[in-house]
Amino acid sequence: MPIKYSRKDFPEGFKFGAATAAYQIEGSENGNCGTCHWDTFSTTPGNVNNGENGSIACDHFHRFEEDLDLVKAGGFDSYRFSTSWARVMPDGKTINKDGLDYYDRLADAICERNLLPNLTLYHWELPSALADIGGWANRETAKRFVDHTNAVIKCIGDRMDAVATINEPWCVAWLSYFLGHHAPGLRDIRAAARAMHHVLLAHGLSIDAMRSLGTSNIGIVLNLTEVQQASDTQSDVSAKDRLDGIHNRWFLDAIFKAEYPDDILKDLIHFMPTNLEDDMTLISSSIDWIGINYYTRTIVAEDANEPWPSIKEIKGPLQQTQMGWEIYPDGLKSSLVRVSREYTGELPMLVTENGMAWKDTVLNEKVFDPIRADYISSHLSAAKAAIDQGVNLKGFFYWSLLDNFEWAFGYEKRFGLVHVDFETQKRTPKASFHDLALALTS
Ligand code: FCB
Repeated sequence: MPIKYSRKDFPEGFKFGAATAAYQIEGSENGNCGTCHWDTFSTTPGNVNNGENGSIACDHFHRFEEDLDLVKAGGFDSYRFSTSWARVMPDGKTINKDGLDYYDRLADAICERNLLPNLTLYHWELPSALADIGGWANRETAKRFVDHTNAVIKCIGDRMDAVATINEPWCVAWLSYFLGHHAPGLRDIRAAARAMHHVLLAHGLSIDAMRSLGTSNIGIVLNLTEVQQASDTQSDVSAKDRLDGIHNRWFLDAIFKAEYPDDILKDLIHFMPTNLEDDMTLISSSIDWIGINYYTRTIVAEDANEPWPSIKEIKGPLQQTQMGWEIYPDGLKSSLVRVSREYTGELPMLVTENGMAWKDTVLNEKVFDPIRADYISSHLSAAKAAIDQGVNLKGFFYWSLLDNFEWAFGYEKRFGLVHVDFETQKRTPKASFHDLALALTS
């Protein structure tokens, strides 16, 4: 199924990219990488589908040249990747030369193909040594993130087109320390509240460190969702506001207004670190771009039987992906327009992740996935509509280049434009890969 848009439908200079993340593809057993909290989380029964982990993943550590050839063949301008903190500093403080050498070779290989490297410094591989001191619940972790920033930027910063500090702080903090779905799998409001602050502090400290090193084009990547109420009752409307506050406004207000939203802070304050206002200037340090990851909307109702935030998610009626996520492109448009109008104005924005998982299978060396081309078309349409409404959107990255280790879901959920056979490591570009390549090169 052809993609309904091509480059010509987007402003001059608009960049298309494909995105990946270190733990999901590299293979953490390679290159003297240290262990991270995902290694322990996934080895604990019940946390990850089939007890799978990222030890081999797509073996990208050894196959990155072949994978970057695919990015090039796909007609993309840019490649979004991340550096694993546990690979760079296996014990959380000492540099692993093999780890940095690998990222050095990777950076060169991206540039050799005339692809623009878009780096994310933290996409969730917290070294075990830092998990041992409480991970993101401990302020020390935010300070240590500066060491990782400095090590990576001194090594490959000269070749980066754009750098993001943290991928999805909501997932780093709330999903992982309050909901317990991601490593370290905690369900503890005090740890979560602290993590919600420390991850932003790490962002601010990292920005500061990169400014001192002369790095340009620095940003952060937030995952936003459009929150909708299940009904128009006052209780569901306020449940909607609470989730919007925790998921979206917490991060946007902190970064762009140097404050946390009052309606959320009044309940979380009991668990927060003291003197947090002293960090807000740093957290709101100016950035050069903002990345938005968008997948679906969230419908919520009040759950009066539960303590704060007393919300429950309701399944909507729209078509769902393999993740059980509704396909709702309108939420991409509304999220981009909202961020631009309420927070960022002219600041360049990128869609740093958007994509869908499907139960893709290979038949006669081909993967037929028309639903993905359709998904991409409808989300490109939403991105275009946002641009038409004045959003300074500069690029769109598909998640993901490859089928990979989808965190707690293991290898079952296939987001890739390229199918990966995890037994043989054979890559098979799906029909959507060819469709998108045609749209980007014609
Ligand atoms: C995002 C993550 C990414 C991937 C997609 C499906 O939340 O950033 O690593 O798991 O979801």
